[in-house]
Formats: sequence, structure tokens, C-alpha cells
Amino acid sequence: MESLTLRELEAEANRRLEPAVADYFSGGAGDELTVHANESAYARIGLAPRVLRGAGEPDLSTTLFGQRIAMPVLIAPTAFHRLAHRDGECATARAAHTADTILIAAMASTEAIENVAAAGNGKLWFQLYLQPDRTFTESLVRRVEAAGCTALVVTVDSPVFGRRERDIRNGFTDLPAGMYCENLRDAGGAPGTPVRSIAFSTALSWKDVEWVRSITRLKILLKGVVHPADARMALECGADGLIVSNHGGRQLDTMPATIELLPDIVDAVGGAVPVLLDGGIRRGTDVVKALALGATAVAIGRPIVWGLAIDGAEGVAAVLRMLRTEVERTLALCGCHSPKELNRDFLRFERREEAWRQH
Ligand code: FNR
Ligand code: LAC
Repeated sequence: MESLTLRELEAEANRRLEPAVADYFSGGAGDELTVHANESAYARIGLAPRVLRGAGEPDLSTTLFGQRIAMPVLIAPTAFHRLAHRDGECATARAAHTADTILIAAMASTEAIENVAAAGNGKLWFQLYLQPDRTFTESLVRRVEAAGCTALVVTVDSPVFGRRERDIRNGFTDLPAGMYCENLRDAGGAPGTPVRSIAFSTALSWKDVEWVRSITRLKILLKGVVHPADARMALECGADGLIVSNHGGRQLDTMPATIELLPDIVDAVGGAVPVLLDGGIRRGTDVVKALALGATAVAIGRPIVWGLAIDGAEGVAAVLRMLRTEVERTLALCGCHSPKELNRDFLRFERREEAWRQH
């Protein structure tokens, strides 16, 4: 791989992918203002290092729910990995193993969760869209438990599907022949059984979160909580963690950048549970800024798909290595040994100063 940066990898991946597939991966809802905001917001935050602290070699290791990972960067759930590489989500799982981090496998994976688990390192979470058919949801949760996943990431930002205008223009509506959402098969996933479509439901409520809490002992994180009042509700319903996310700008366009939404959620949660963030992370400095604002860890979506498209498991491993090296260098330059030392004192805000100062 020639690329030096994640942004160069994006260009390289897009040259290899079919244009409609590249658009599906890169695109977002509406005018894609949120897609761009997620990335550009980091440029308005400066890092103010400390010096001469004898910090020593950076140690990025992080513990989440008692599980140690080599760095505070996880793989966000993204759908349809076989569109990017024939080995699909199994390649992604192998790369998570190499990087010693957590893969959040998407419900809309093109490989069954059992196969993904077999390819990986046991550091596997499962992203769930709660289905109106509770019998089906429960049977899928049982599959996920049996496969050895340790947490459910319940995505709550999708009462309806965002309007992805690139996909509409490209007529990109279905997976190609021979590719299916393998976790959506009936009969516990037996090959050849019918595949359901994911149902998005405007009827979902906190009661459904309480219900999923009541049927499983897996850790439950809610993905897409961005309002402090919702964060408090999530804790009341027994959530074990939150992921501040706007779905990479693919759902509600004009949502603010996730890095701008993070501080209020961190304050509302007050350290009770881990708060993660995804959206627009493309540099080690982005990771460090999110951690300094109180995120326990971050997750990356599109860069993983770019790595897959370029070189399967090797490509994803290279993406994770690239980001890891950048985070290590950034920490060293900030005078830190561990991400745990980061706090808001390392940040300076160029604009919106008044709003930020309140925190
Ligand atoms: C996603 N995302 C997503 N999220 C989710 O909960 N379930 C899913 O099936 C998907 N699928 C999906 C497909 C593609 C192609 C993308 C780009 C994203 C959202 C994902 O988990 C995450 O929130 C964003 O990707 C984070 O932003 P970045 O890192 O892509 O900028
Ligand atoms: C997406 C869905 C599958 O963002 O969540 O494409």
C-alpha cells in the first residue's frame, strides 16, 4: 500500500471500487453536510501539549467492560463488507485480531456472525437494529450470544432510513446476486433459509430498550444517543455504554459533528458508563481530541471499508496500524504516556469559544 494517510487510502479505494459501491460507502444523507462536518470540526480544535514530563513510550492499551484492547480505536459497524472484498466481514475480523481491538459486526453483514466470530479474536460486539418482530430479534440475540459476542450495540438513530441521494441516482437498491444479509435468515441462520429485510421502525421506544435489557446479560450500548436527556434515559434503562454517533452523516443531515455533541453527553453521564464516539476520525490527532473531551474510545467506519477494498484483511490491518502509529506520535508530542492522562486542558478552541468554555 502506497498511501501515507487515511485520506489517500480513500482515493485509492475509490479508484478500485465500482462507482455505485464507492458512492454507497462514502455517501450520506441529503446534502451530506453532516458527513463533512464530522471531519472538518476537528480542524477547529487545537492541541496544546505539555512538555518535559518524562512520559516515556506511549501505551495505548484500554480496557472496556473488563476486556483489554491494544488501543482505544474500535471498528464501527458498517454493512455489506463483501461489496468491498470477497472475504467480507471475515477479513475484517482477522484484521481486528491483528490489531488486537474490538470489531462491532453489523447486523447487515454479508457473512454470518458465527463465521465472523470464528475468524476473529473473541473481541466481538454485535450491532442490532431492534426489529418489530420480537421473536426474530430474540432468536438473533441468542445466535449472537452463542457465537461469543460480548456486547450488543443497539443503533437507535434509524426510525426510518436516511435519504441517500447518491444511491437513488445510481439505482443502488439491492445487494448483487449471491450476497445476502446472513444474520437475517430465518431458522437461526441455517443456509438456504429465507432472508428478511431489516425493518426500520418509528414505533420503537425506551420500552424496547428495557425489553432487550430484560432478555440478555450481554452488555448493551446505545449507538446514536446525542442529547443529554436521552443519555440519562439510557442509563435509567440499564444501558452499559453509549456511542455518540450521527451514523457518519447517513441519517439526519445537518446534525452537528459528533465531536461537538460529545462534551454534553460526557457531562450527562458523569463517568457512570463508557462513552464512545464515531464519525469523521481520520487522524491520530482526531482520536486524541475525542479522548481529551472524555470519550473512552472511538470507532472508525469508512476507513475500514477503504482498507478492505484495497487489500482485504491486510488492508484493514494497515488502516488500523496507520491510525495507531499516529495516535502514539500525537500522545508523545502531547507529553503523555497513556490516553488516560488526556483531558480538556490539552485543547484550545478556535471558534465557538463561548459555547465550549461552558464545559
Ligand atoms: C454505516 N454505519 C452503520 N451503523 C450501524 O449502526 N449499522 C449499519 O449497518 C451501518 N452501516 C454503515 C454502512 C456504511 C457504508 C457506513 C459508511 C456507515 C455507521 C457507522 O457505524 C458509523 O457510525 C460511521 O461510519 C462513522 O463515521 P465514519 O468513521 O465513517 O466517518
Ligand atoms: C447504512 C445502514 C445499513 O448506513 O445502516 O448503510
